[in-house]
Amino acid sequence: MCVRSRMLKACGLILAVAGCSVGAAAQAAQNVQSVQLSQEAEAAIGAGAHGAQRAATKPKVAATPPMGWNSWNFFAGKVTDKDIRDTADLLVSTGMRDAGYVYVNIDDTWEGKRDAEGRIQSNEKFPDMKALADYVHSKGLKLGIYSSPGAKTCAGYEGSLGHEDQDAARYAEWGIDYLKYDLCSYGGVMRQQAPNDVPAQNKLMRDAYEKMHQAIVKTGRPMVYSLCQYGDDSVWDWGPSVGANLWRTTGDISANFDRMSLIGRSQAGLEKFAGPGHWNDPDMLEVGNGRLTHDENVTHMTLWAMLAAPLIAGNNLTQMTPEIAAILTNKEAIAIDQDALGKQGSRIYAEGPVEIWAKPLKSVAGHKSAAVAIFNFGETASEMRGIRLHLKEAGLPEHVMARDVWAGKDLGKIGDDWRTTIPRHGVVLLVVR
Ligand code: GAL
Repeated sequence: MCVRSRMLKACGLILAVAGCSVGAAAQAAQNVQSVQLSQEAEAAIGAGAHGAQRAATKPKVAATPPMGWNSWNFFAGKVTDKDIRDTADLLVSTGMRDAGYVYVNIDDTWEGKRDAEGRIQSNEKFPDMKALADYVHSKGLKLGIYSSPGAKTCAGYEGSLGHEDQDAARYAEWGIDYLKYDLCSYGGVMRQQAPNDVPAQNKLMRDAYEKMHQAIVKTGRPMVYSLCQYGDDSVWDWGPSVGANLWRTTGDISANFDRMSLIGRSQAGLEKFAGPGHWNDPDMLEVGNGRLTHDENVTHMTLWAMLAAPLIAGNNLTQMTPEIAAILTNKEAIAIDQDALGKQGSRIYAEGPVEIWAKPLKSVAGHKSAAVAIFNFGETASEMRGIRLHLKEAGLPEHVMARDVWAGKDLGKIGDDWRTTIPRHGVVLLVVR
């Protein structure tokens, strides 16, 4: 193992104890507040002309990429009411809520049957959804839920087809704050209604997403609207037009380095579609799941922060180690993701296993600022021999003041010729100005 790799490990532990700069903490707090404000704004839109006027003066829903936790990546079909309550408690006690992780999202498999009036019931794993929402809210958190425009969800539970208004109203009655709407069996409906006509199928898909958007608006309750249809039909082109605050850009992530890094790297080129209120979603985090090593977890968190991706943790918080908590709550990495400019980073250099990505950040005291991440996706440590930092391509001056985020260390003034060693599957993340 190289020296750099050992140093990063040590730093992860130090950060867990010492935390980060006050500036980053304040930034994160501000972002949580802006999401809360933006929800009021969306509620105001539902309240008619007077409300719309009020909304115009307030920030958007998901003004910064949504942050929270989702049950699928770890619990999948086994998630219960108790898991959600435990997670809510732990989001608070581990400091994750205060770092910005406010949405607690129940994914697929909560759905029961419909009653005689067609109203959706939760199943025996979730005996009282309203009580659960009240509990989650009492912790200063928000509750998310999942459904599909099809008759069945991907796990074969009850979907919303033909019940969109009823379901949205039910979610509002329970106190739901976030809906992930997953295409699943609606793909079959599309193929059946418009056989061999892909453009017509795509129109049906967009209409289905718009239908649920309208249903949510009618409730008057602000809900983050998350599209999940795996990036089909260039969803980034039309997501905002159906009210989406985020849209999945790919198929499912899994807890291994190859899949995670393939998804993250494939976001290159999509940066122009992301911005306040509407984000590309490369799927939920696997930090702390599977067999990801320390460096792989740091790379995952860094890549998602550089992408201004939604930070939806997916690990089992009851077993979270201090090392994983330190990665997920690193305030400087979170501040990069949540930066108020809302710019998704771009890949500015790629050769062999090394890639450099840059993300413009809000200027500091009139100085251009950016995050620069040097990734090593290769199988051995890389010494960056002959590799420049490419500051010019990042729109930065020849020399910049730099801080190494994961090492928690100011580096002083550096230039394009700065050299470091990047561990296998690791990254060096700089904030420069
Ligand atoms: C998939 C989706 C996953 C998860 C799963 C639940 O389609 O991409 O994130 O929601 O369905 O069945």
